[in-house]
Amino acid sequence: MAVSIGSILIVDDVPINLSVLMQLLGSVGYKVLVATDGESAVQQAEYAIPDMILLDVMMPGIDGFETCRRLKASPITRDIPVIFMTALSDTIDKVYGFQLGAVDYVTKPLQHEEVIARVNAHLTLHRQKQEIEQLRQQERLHYERLSQLKDQMLHTASHDLKNPLAVITTAVELLRRYNPSLDERTKEKLNQIEVSTAYMRDLIVNLLDLARIETGVGLQKQKILVKQLLETNVAQAVILAHEKGIAVQSQYLVNDMTIYCDPLLIGQVFQNLISNAVKYTPQGGAPIQVSAEKRETEVSFNIMDHGIGIPESDIPHVFDKFFRVNTIEHRTVAGTGLGLSIVREIVQQHGGSLHVESQVGIGSTFSFSLPRS
Ligand SMILES: Nc1ncnc2c1ncn2[C@@H]1O[C@H](COP(=O)(O)OP(=O)(O)O)[C@@H](O)[C@H]1O
Ligand SMILES: [Mg+2]
Repeated sequence: MAVSIGSILIVDDVPINLSVLMQLLGSVGYKVLVATDGESAVQQAEYAIPDMILLDVMMPGIDGFETCRRLKASPITRDIPVIFMTALSDTIDKVYGFQLGAVDYVTKPLQHEEVIARVNAHLTLHRQKQEIEQLRQQERLHYERLSQLKDQMLHTASHDLKNPLAVITTAVELLRRYNPSLDERTKEKLNQIEVSTAYMRDLIVNLLDLARIETGVGLQKQKILVKQLLETNVAQAVILAHEKGIAVQSQYLVNDMTIYCDPLLIGQVFQNLISNAVKYTPQGGAPIQVSAEKRETEVSFNIMDHGIGIPESDIPHVFDKFFRVNTIEHRTVAGTGLGLSIVREIVQQHGGSLHVESQVGIGSTFSFSLPRS
């Protein structure tokens, strides 16, 4: 005997119909099970879990529709495709059958070839669906495992990488304190150690920030007053600017407007943009202007400086990872080239947009907009 290509439960109250279908489906290789009423069909289906059910609609006792409803209500039989059988003379609501979850209808008297074609087609479709579902699930598991691994690595890395740098920084400080009269060469070397350590710490912090933000998980959005957001973040930057003899002017035309955002991340955007404005403005330079204004569907923020500016050909690249403008004025300022990549990622994750205008020797304006809540 040939290997079965699948099992089919046939449900019909008329014995002759059953034997015709048994013969037909058996002859093409299906294993056939039978039931003569709805209740025993549900029982059999739960026990044998056939690959498909051919279900008569008009039956004494519970009819085909009710049988189907019960099959679809049980997690064991829910996914088995059901094809209804109806007589041409039956005045039934076929749409109702589809709503119950049936995949098709065949009409009695049955056209043998048509029955086989429909059964084959729906079985193939069903198997393909199951395969796709399985693949999806595997992929989901795989992805979950990877992102767990990434989280773990980020967590370990941020501790294990930052700690030794803190030790080095402290050691340099202590060396200086214990030896008040160091010779110039030693002082210079200690400075180099300090500068490189600070750079490496920034690099680690920026890289880890970027990696964390890029995963997009842990974004904690809440409704925030725009004014409050600005006041907190600009106040911090003002200290930095004053150390360099630069004033910060602000103008907020936002009233009591709110936005829906992660305040810590948007704070990072401000800090990066304002610290750039300060970094790339010479000592005692013209004031930095921070402004915000209400637009129809968004709020737009501008950070304008009158510093060294960006060459036109470099403007398209400033948001790329590790990109830094390669002129002497820019190079003398310390940086990792990751700040603006972080800015871009955060703004994108908030559904906002980002823009820069700049001219060498005149200054730069970075603008970003966020959707209003
Ligand atoms: N306000 C600005 N004025 C002039 N150049 C800027 C300004 N902001 C950014 N840049 C240029 O863009 C580069 C990338 O910026 P960013 O990603 O923040 O890195 P960095 O760590 O160097 O500040 C900087 O190195 C600098 O050359
Ligand atoms: Mg920067």
